[in-house]
Amino acid sequence: MRAFAAVLVTVLTAGITAVSEEARKPPEKLVFKAKPGDVVFDHAKHIKAAKNDCKVCHDRFWPQSAKAPLNFKAGLHKPAEAKHTSCGFCHHPGGGSFESKGNCNRCHHKGTGKT
Ligand code: HEC
Ligand code: HEC
Ligand code: HEC
Repeated sequence: MRAFAAVLVTVLTAGITAVSEEARKPPEKLVFKAKPGDVVFDHAKHIKAAKNDCKVCHDRFWPQSAKAPLNFKAGLHKPAEAKHTSCGFCHHPGGGSFESKGNCNRCHHKGTGKT
């Protein structure tokens, strides 16, 4: 009986942990500070692009934290695009979305402050 109770507690705890992980509310938008202009990352739109599969990005490229490094800025984005990591997983020629070259302004918004 005691062993059964212990198993039950373990199962319940595991269930609660799983629920709280799934319940982490994804942000609508995140803003990444950058010298050429801040980048507004439309998280909701990107979830749609990934067909609701969080694993396309988490934790493969980033944990679910807005404080972790993005690892995209080195070498004006060329290394990440070439290796198909970070934002460069999709943002490279033929990767499903626009590459950096010629598209700086689609990500970097100057001036307005509210981007
Ligand atoms: C296209 C990539 C992508 C997909 C898909 C994605 N995320 Fe994210 N998410 C990000 C990025 C980028 C960050 C910020 C990472 C950083 O700053 O290091 C982030 C951050 C987060 C955060 C932290 C927010 C904060 O304020 O700390 C949560 C929570 C999160 N995502 C939940 C989810 C959930 C739940 C899903 C699936 C429904 C999901 N994400 C799908 C890219 C993605
Ligand atoms: C899973 C693939 C994927 C990843 C990873 C990804 N993107 Fe995107 N991104 C897309 C797609 C698809 C679009 C919309 C299609 C298009 O306009 O080419 C898009 C569009 C955008 C846009 C334009 C949104 C608008 O206003 O239309 C910005 C800005 C952007 N992404 C930034 C980022 C940043 C910053 C990262 C890394 C933190 C990132 N993306 C990672 C697939 C991705
Ligand atoms: C897909 C979106 C996207 C495109 C396109 C893009 N950038 Fe970025 N850029 C970012 C993000 C996001 C960061 C912050 C990355 C990080 O913290 O790792 C960044 C950071 C930078 C930085 C570092 C700034 C700092 O504060 O240290 C420079 C420089 C830069 N970008 C230049 C460019 C140039 C030049 C282009 C066009 C050739 C370009 N970027 C195109 C998203 C983009």
